[in-house]
Amino acid sequence: MATRFGFFTLTVSLLIIIGSDAFTTSTSSKVEETLQFTYSGATGPDKWASLNPNFSLCATGKLQSPINIVSARAVRNSKWKPLVRNYRAVNVTLVDNKFTVAIEYPEDTGEISLDEKLYRLKQMHWHSPSEHRINGNRFAAELHMVHVSDDGKVLVVGTLFQVGRPDPVLQTIDKKLYELGSEYRSRSRSRSSEAIQVGVFHPAELRTSLRKYYKYTGSSSVPPCTEHLIYLVIAKPRCISKQQVEALKAPLDIRCKNNARPCQPLNARHVHLYQD
Ligand SMILES: *[C@@H]1O[C@H](CO)[C@@H](O)[C@H](O)[C@H]1NC(C)=O
Ligand SMILES: *[C@@H]1O[C@H](CO)[C@@H](O)[C@H](O)[C@H]1NC(C)=O
Repeated sequence: MATRFGFFTLTVSLLIIIGSDAFTTSTSSKVEETLQFTYSGATGPDKWASLNPNFSLCATGKLQSPINIVSARAVRNSKWKPLVRNYRAVNVTLVDNKFTVAIEYPEDTGEISLDEKLYRLKQMHWHSPSEHRINGNRFAAELHMVHVSDDGKVLVVGTLFQVGRPDPVLQTIDKKLYELGSEYRSRSRSRSSEAIQVGVFHPAELRTSLRKYYKYTGSSSVPPCTEHLIYLVIAKPRCISKQQVEALKAPLDIRCKNNARPCQPLNARHVHLYQD
């Protein structure tokens, strides 16, 4: 498996619940030539389902992400427990997938535990502007930390960012991020992904316990829009500087600079609020 190519790992992370190697393999060869989907133009979000029969859930799914979270309608859950994240210091890779910038983790990174089940951290990536909205408000950026349990269940922790002070997590990789952006400018556009070794990564901000968060059942917010992912969206936004938002956009394909899928209908779902 070519771990150099972040998209594959992202696809694997998100497709584990489909459990089909065939899909990942057949997608891999194509993605090296061109992006399968984008956020604008002829391959934008409203066209995703028509781009590949395997993307049909993007149009027909009833559990799609992202959503607008209406706080007054969230169901308060009395069984609150602090969600503790146990991540270790590990060597990570920063990857430009052209539709997002991602950090890929090795196998033994650590985990989050929810309802007596462990979900291992596999990958994290950024969207800008945010994908989720709270009471209709969109934020400057959103971080998705993708975790997978041993039996293939996917849990995504979403952190929203408003413009303000620089984000300390991104500050630890700002030079690498800049490098990724300038590599993109200087190299052939046909390359679909670039990877840079970051070294040991262990920001304290990613280990804090989550005291107030929303939880709902959603989907991958990129094709194939696979459903039944658990989303935990942290209620309190963090800060990010304007320069950091620009640095996250710089390495992306021109059609993916605003890599946020529009909000999807809630349908019969409920959003749960956990608060201490
Ligand atoms: C759809 O996925 C199946 C496996 O799940 C794969 O065999 C097939 O090639 C995929 N189709 C396309 C058009 O990518
Ligand atoms: C990270 O990689 C370096 C160089 O390969 C190695 O010396 C170091 O032990 C690694 N650290 C961790 C925490 O894996």
